[in-house]
Amino acid sequence: MTSRGAARPNGQSQASKICQFKLVLLGESAVGKSSLVLRFVKGQFHEYQESTIGVKFEIWDTAGQERYHSLAPMYYRGAQAAIVVYDITNQETFARAKTWVKELQRQASPSIVIALAGNKADLASKRMVEYEEAQAYADDNSLLFMETSAKTAMNVNDLFLAIAKKLPKSEPQSTSGAAGRSRGVDLHEQSQQNKNQCCSN
Ligand code: GTP
Ligand code: MG
Repeated sequence: MTSRGAARPNGQSQASKICQFKLVLLGESAVGKSSLVLRFVKGQFHEYQESTIGVKFEIWDTAGQERYHSLAPMYYRGAQAAIVVYDITNQETFARAKTWVKELQRQASPSIVIALAGNKADLASKRMVEYEEAQAYADDNSLLFMETSAKTAMNVNDLFLAIAKKLPKSEPQSTSGAAGRSRGVDLHEQSQQNKNQCCSN
């Protein structure tokens, strides 16, 4: 599951081109944060082949239960990216997602890339949050936005790829104190056009 950016199957060493980022998942309990991570990690495991850009995410999956809220700043501190997740069948989780976005905007790194994920998109018949409403909110707040389904894999890889594309690749990245406490996941993209755009350039 983890990889350190050593030689790829195509024989090319990518070690100098791996950028490492800390990414945190936030959102109400049971919206599917852990499920999205599992889906993403599993998908990457099966797709482990050609690599063009190497982006290594250290993924911090937080607990959504309110009693753990006071721990959250420890998790988003130093994060370069955050995925704020809500459940499209539950309006309250969307309201909660908005408060997470506000908290990140106030207290996290000013350059943090925030993505909003409307998860459980497979449950369209039970939808309570309209796509357009969430998209408008995301636009107003300069967030990436996608509806996802950890169950069907819809947009899961796309979401992480979109975040990877938005991250600055030229600055040195710090993930202080994170080593060994979370899983690093390499994100490989097949597109040739992003080749050679990573940190060392
Ligand atoms: P906490 O760890 O308590 O904060 O919850 P979480 O956000 O990590 O949610 P989790 O991934 O544990 O998922 C909660 C429930 O929702 C589980 O029963 C999952 O199977 C289900 N679930 C997660 N994602 C999806 C999805 O995309 N579609 C459907 N139908 N169910 C999902
Ligand atoms: Mg969880």
